[in-house]
Amino acid sequence: MSPHSIPESFNLVFFGGTGDLVTRKLLPAMYQCHKNGQLPGKPNFISLGRHDYDRDQYLAMVTEKAKQFLPGADWSDAVWADFCAHLSYYRIDAEIPGEYAILKNALEQAPAEANIFFLSVAPSLFAPICTHLAGQGLNSPNCRVVLEKPLGYDLASSNAITADVGRHYQEKQVYRIDHYLGKESVQNLMALRFGNALFEPLWRRMWISNVQITIAEEVGIGTRGGFYEGTGALRDMVQNHLLQLLCFVAMEPPASLDSEAVRDEKIKVLQCLVPFAREDVMSKTVRGQYRSGAIAGQPVAGYLDEQGIPPDSRTETFVAIKAEIANWRWAGVPFYLRTGKRLPERVAEIVINFHAVPHQIFPLSAGASATPCKLEIRLQPNEYIRLYFYVKTPGDKMELQQVYLDLDFAAYFKVRREEAYERLLLDIIRGNQALFVRQDELEQAWRWVEPILDTWESDRSGPKQYTAGTWGPSASSALLLQDGFRWHEED
Ligand code: BG6
Repeated sequence: MSPHSIPESFNLVFFGGTGDLVTRKLLPAMYQCHKNGQLPGKPNFISLGRHDYDRDQYLAMVTEKAKQFLPGADWSDAVWADFCAHLSYYRIDAEIPGEYAILKNALEQAPAEANIFFLSVAPSLFAPICTHLAGQGLNSPNCRVVLEKPLGYDLASSNAITADVGRHYQEKQVYRIDHYLGKESVQNLMALRFGNALFEPLWRRMWISNVQITIAEEVGIGTRGGFYEGTGALRDMVQNHLLQLLCFVAMEPPASLDSEAVRDEKIKVLQCLVPFAREDVMSKTVRGQYRSGAIAGQPVAGYLDEQGIPPDSRTETFVAIKAEIANWRWAGVPFYLRTGKRLPERVAEIVINFHAVPHQIFPLSAGASATPCKLEIRLQPNEYIRLYFYVKTPGDKMELQQVYLDLDFAAYFKVRREEAYERLLLDIIRGNQALFVRQDELEQAWRWVEPILDTWESDRSGPKQYTAGTWGPSASSALLLQDGFRWHEED
């Protein structure tokens, strides 16, 4: 996607260098890029953390983790050792300004075209880190900061982060990660929509009855109770990942693949989302919380029995929302968004449902049109595109049957699929912001979810229970039924 090129040299500094994200995702991603020859000859990686490791101890720790998380087929002792030759570790307390001299010194020993600071830390540290980096002059135009979610808890806290970071770094130096934007399959949405003239005439209210976007997970909250209890599914998944997917489905064709052109179109979609009044929240949203049940035949605990969760928790682990976009292309077309933990399977997909034929000449008894045509775009785990439509069942009677044309990406492209963080890190190194969330997008997304958060907060009825291993509370099906629709898996 990027016309930008890798600089001759760069420093990539990881704050939170001993944490899960760096050890399980970011270093393995950079190793893959190194292995594939996608990095310049002399990359330089610096990990920072409060743990008292020396360099050898740090390398031993990350090597063990990387071996666990990289697929065996991708592992090479020799390439990993070569990669580690570019990696160092320094003990730094990010809250103590005096300690930044250590980093400054390390960077002076490796002068590079770009200095990138990846803040894989709690958001409360964003402001002090940016301030202390700037205190060392590490905010000059060749410096970039990378922020991971959660980018705020609500509109006000998100705006406060923006203001704190913005005091030292310009917007073009700030990369806000939504890892869904780095997924191959999400990129492919752009190719499908804007690389073909075929779909464009159909991609509008005239031909589409409703759009369904689902990110379902089998997993519960695991050991993340402390984080999740104060967050919930709306903040964790809807405000970011689901709204970003909605933007890619609904946006107008951008003028080019340029960062600003793409993001200019996405923000227009967010601005057109119909805001929720209190009564809309009650009728157009569903929140749920899983109780004990079974996943793949194995019993699993309910949310209230998970570690660190108070017995009276009202945190939602499931959300379904009917969103509407007030513009010429989409007026009147519901976009149903859904996400949840402890659902029957891990799946992320977008289903575009087309209208039924305007006049049916085939008798319903002959199987006609019970389910209108649809396009199913499976983003993960097994990426495919299926176009469902009707054909005649062979035989002497005129009977219809719904069938699908199927493109299975793994079968068609027998090549390794890049991990999201490989693409995202390469884009940061190249200075391409197209796949990163711009400040106005972030703010608008919070603006849209905030009335839902507020209404839920004041509504004492709390989330509806659903049994682990099911598709959420029955109210989720009812949300669509009131409009005459059903979720894709219910067809
Ligand atoms: C993260 C959420 O952003 O996305 C997690 O914090 C969630 O709760 C994860 O499990 C899902 O990502 P993926 O790539 O596995 O679909």
